[in-house]
Amino acid sequence: MSLKTLCGRFLFRLHEHGVTASRGAAVLGRSSTRGYYNTKTPRCTDGAARVRVVDLRSDTVTKPGPAMRQAIAEAVVGDDVMAEDPTVNELQKIAADMFGMESALFVPTGTMSNLIAVMVHCRERGDEMIVGDLSHLHIYEQGGSAQLAGVHATTVTTLPDGTFDLEQLESKIRHGYPDPHYPRSRLICVENTHNIQGGRVLPLTFLQEVRALADRYGLSVHMDGARVMNAAVAQGVPPSTILQHTHTVSVCLSKGLGSPVGTMLAGPKDFISHAVRCRKALGGGMRQAGILAAAGKLSLLEMIGRLEEDHCNTKTFAQALIDCDPPLFNVDMAAVETNILRFRLQEPTFSPSEFCERMGQVDEGEEAALGQGIIKVPPLQGYKFDIVFVWIMKSK
Ligand SMILES: Cc1ncc(COP(=O)(O)O)c(C=O)c1O
Repeated sequence: MSLKTLCGRFLFRLHEHGVTASRGAAVLGRSSTRGYYNTKTPRCTDGAARVRVVDLRSDTVTKPGPAMRQAIAEAVVGDDVMAEDPTVNELQKIAADMFGMESALFVPTGTMSNLIAVMVHCRERGDEMIVGDLSHLHIYEQGGSAQLAGVHATTVTTLPDGTFDLEQLESKIRHGYPDPHYPRSRLICVENTHNIQGGRVLPLTFLQEVRALADRYGLSVHMDGARVMNAAVAQGVPPSTILQHTHTVSVCLSKGLGSPVGTMLAGPKDFISHAVRCRKALGGGMRQAGILAAAGKLSLLEMIGRLEEDHCNTKTFAQALIDCDPPLFNVDMAAVETNILRFRLQEPTFSPSEFCERMGQVDEGEEAALGQGIIKVPPLQGYKFDIVFVWIMKSK
């Protein structure tokens, strides 16, 4: 089967399931500076009202809708470096209460938030953290904790559901301190939901066991909870039920929760006091940040309720792939838990990268059949190169 035929079937199958019709909201012409992908179909840029964008690269491509833009415009602000921005203070209070933590801090990004957490938990140069070998912190954050904080990382194998083998985890804890040969184990990091493993939700029992292990050895547990609200929704529990097992958490507002910028770092009061210092040293002390925090408040107060839509749409999308006849895609439906979907192509004659490239194009047959011009933005090819990743987001 040709690549073109395969991609055509893929698109029509999704359309039948109502996926494309409700997906990606940007109307070309209003958000037109997208030179980094190649649709090869400039005709679709005419008649903008009938052109829709299906952008499956990441849940970070969400854009603020009208209510969020209005909240941003009307935000009451002050100088947050002086702790005088009322909107930031309000957001921090909302986050701390929601996460069941003593205190929270608004920081610009998830990457900075994780780095600050590592810096505060591992204060001595050469302290060590234990991280999953497929964690975002280890793979996608440029080794910032080594580069900027002098923290050594040792890895545990990330299992397909995002968890670790607890015996292996325990075997990584160092016992030699203060023998000068060894770093000192300080921190265990977990990721929930797990990005590379396809939005997997960590079981509460696993978190409980990790915490018990950490307590036994006097270590801290930090959760990269960039998408922990997705986990909470999928498990039907408040986030505090998940986070009771961690000392600190980093929660992104700018992914499925729709804010343009921002992450909440939360934990005990003294942890956050130190985090404020680290944030400033890293250049993350922002002044009238209430403009951004106003969006963050909406993310926490209104967008969490909509994450379920993303999860339903991901399952619909996955089912559409499974239903292709003849079968074209391998999807493990049991692993589809939140808003990230990974699948393999069954067709051996072309690669995931060719598939992704083709998904960035639109041909006339597709446009005629769907009754609208759709700019398809290619899904991201996964960390493992035989896997295609897509992120599903609600339309605004
Ligand atoms: C699991 C996870 N942690 C951290 C981050 C970093 O967030 P940011 O892009 O805001 O730095 C991401 C970003 O995609 C992520 O997926």
